[in-house]
Amino acid sequence: MTENKKIAIVGSGLIGSSWASLFLSGGYKVVLYDVGEAQLQTSLKHVHDNLVKLDEKGLQRGVLTAEEAFRNVSTTTDLAEALRDAFYVQESTIETVEFHVKIFAEMDALAAPETILASSTSTIPASQFTEHLKNRERCLVVHPVNPPLFLPLTELVPAPWTSESTLHTATTLMTSIGQEPIRLNREVLGFGVNRLQFAIMAEAWRLVADDVLSPEDVDKIMSAGLGPRYAFNGPWATTHLNAFGIRDYWKRYGPGARRVLADFGPTPSFEEEHVIEKLERSLNASMPLDSLKTFMANREESLAKIAKLKKE
Ligand SMILES: NC(=O)c1ccc[n+]([C@@H]2O[C@H](COP(=O)([O-])OP(=O)(O)OC[C@H]3O[C@@H](n4cnc5c(N)ncnc54)[C@H](O)[C@@H]3O)[C@@H](O)[C@H]2O)c1
Repeated sequence: MTENKKIAIVGSGLIGSSWASLFLSGGYKVVLYDVGEAQLQTSLKHVHDNLVKLDEKGLQRGVLTAEEAFRNVSTTTDLAEALRDAFYVQESTIETVEFHVKIFAEMDALAAPETILASSTSTIPASQFTEHLKNRERCLVVHPVNPPLFLPLTELVPAPWTSESTLHTATTLMTSIGQEPIRLNREVLGFGVNRLQFAIMAEAWRLVADDVLSPEDVDKIMSAGLGPRYAFNGPWATTHLNAFGIRDYWKRYGPGARRVLADFGPTPSFEEEHVIEKLERSLNASMPLDSLKTFMANREESLAKIAKLKKE
């Protein structure tokens, strides 16, 4: 997509090393920046494992094999060196406003004026940490969904001053590595993914708190019902197909939906101890804490199969 193929990853933890793997697989050169050599060595191992996983599952993002792609990664603990000649930076560090203000000020000072500065932040709108930067029009949020290797959705969230060309380049870059970017027209708390996710979690919480459903059965509503349906059609396409078109759906079911929504309780604090205990008893029995890594790996396997199926 561009002559300059160097991308800098600032913060090479779980999300940073996933981004690195996707960019490398797509044919880009990647430099990982982090605070210590030990972290960088661990990240390199994760990047290599990720590239092998993509290969094994037939989910590479370009023409390179894992070993060919891995030759294009380097590491540094020097931020200036990481940003030198990069056309795009993906920051994936610590989820606090204060730290974002600090690291974006440093990156704004060090990077060439046209280099795009993207943040993976899940919750902090870019306007909260880019307002006073010299080149703030090149900043935005590019928010992945975990695990990014197998969930292609990526939210692009501009600050009010993010330029059209920044959004265009970020969209083109994401598409070039097989991600599926969506673009918010303006900043809202939680962006799109977490607004929908927290709406579901609030009602899931109330159903357990009010002893209407067990935690297992709430999970089953998603895993055996709504989840598979939504894997191929989102809520709008689903309503369109569940009646004779979307207008017909809301004519039939709108009054029912209004009655149900009016019956919802208040927003939970998510701190009610009796609910946490109930959830913990259920989850720790089915997925013991000392085996979580195995369950995470199983989840990844299942998501990879869905990603493969959707690709086909
Ligand atoms: N984990 C998720 O599910 C998920 C999903 C989407 C977005 N995100 C966002 O991605 C970002 C990173 O999350 P993560 O899960 O990868 O966290 P993580 O803890 O795995 O990684 C954070 C990395 O930042 C590094 N770091 C710490 N201080 C630093 C500094 N001063 N300079 C450079 N690097 C520094 C750490 O060494 C570590 O490698 C967060 O903003 C998070 O909200 C996370």
